[in-house]
Amino acid sequence: MTTAQQLIDNYSAQVVQKPQALPYSFSERKQRFEALKSLLKQQNAVLIAHYYVDALLQALAEESGGFIGDSLEMAKFGKNADADTLVVAGVKFMGETAKILSPHKRVLVPTLEANCSLDLSCPIDAFSQFCDAHPDRTVVVYANTSAAVKARADWVVTSSIAVPIIEHLTDNNEKIIWAPDRYLGDYLQRKTGADMLLWQGSCIVHEAFKADTLKVLKQQYPDAAILVHPESPQEVIAMADVVGSTTQLIKAAQTVPQKTCIVATERGIFYKMQLAAPEKTLIQAPSGGNGATCKSCVHCPWMAMNSLDNLEQVLTTSANEIHLSLELCAQAIKPLNRMLAFSQ
Ligand code: 13P
Ligand code: SF4
Repeated sequence: MTTAQQLIDNYSAQVVQKPQALPYSFSERKQRFEALKSLLKQQNAVLIAHYYVDALLQALAEESGGFIGDSLEMAKFGKNADADTLVVAGVKFMGETAKILSPHKRVLVPTLEANCSLDLSCPIDAFSQFCDAHPDRTVVVYANTSAAVKARADWVVTSSIAVPIIEHLTDNNEKIIWAPDRYLGDYLQRKTGADMLLWQGSCIVHEAFKADTLKVLKQQYPDAAILVHPESPQEVIAMADVVGSTTQLIKAAQTVPQKTCIVATERGIFYKMQLAAPEKTLIQAPSGGNGATCKSCVHCPWMAMNSLDNLEQVLTTSANEIHLSLELCAQAIKPLNRMLAFSQ
């Protein structure tokens, strides 16, 4: 049997060392980035990256005048960008959201294979039947869904804005269908008291965080703040000092008074979090312990499919364009625009 001390030994090995070095020497990176920046410029394209993709892609997005952000900010940036082409480094739903909001822009993705376990858990036919069975309920879906599921919804929300939107609907006495993330749904229900029917999807990365080993780690770092993404299990969220989207967690790392932060989200976030809060010690929350399978090891397998190599390929061949019918975009944009208007 694993002792508490063994657990501590395992997890203290995950303290993030600062600064995190990017691969390649400075001059190699500069050369590679210059070539990619000129490809982006030739096509009047901007690179929009999520915090979970490779640090090199995040750095390039910033250096080339593109953007790094959470899924709500990525959607807003893409919509407002003065560019002919949006290159979205993230997962499929992020590329599709960009296309829905800008149907006349070309949207490219480094790989069409990058999906998300939440999107995969919610096929449109089964979801539509579920909605049809509860016609008295307002349909609210997480951004991590297909364009077809968004088109069936009344509202789309992201983690950064889900709480105020659910509060707003509850104030209007609306009963809610929520899909697909059961952990985020459970968190929203507890936080707002909303009447919600929950779809039973989950994120394979966040579902793996373990409260029992997090307690052991917290004993070793009693003064640490615990920062948690709300796709995590309820027992992990219950230990959090701050619950929020990726951007909200980065801001929290900067603003919490604690010098050490234990962070329960995908490990790609550490690149930007370290730059934003260089004086803080950042520790990855444990995903091991009782019942651990390490399906993801805190690394999203779909986000990891994005690389400088497939970005370059896509910029030179224009392969991997997102195509959605104008009718589907016209339907799916309504719940997205409701969210964007609410966020103003
Ligand atoms: P954010 O909107 O917080 O960036 O989350 C997106 C996501 O896929 C989290 O797993
Ligand atoms: Fe989906 Fe989870 Fe990956 Fe985010 S981290 S894209 S929710 S599988």
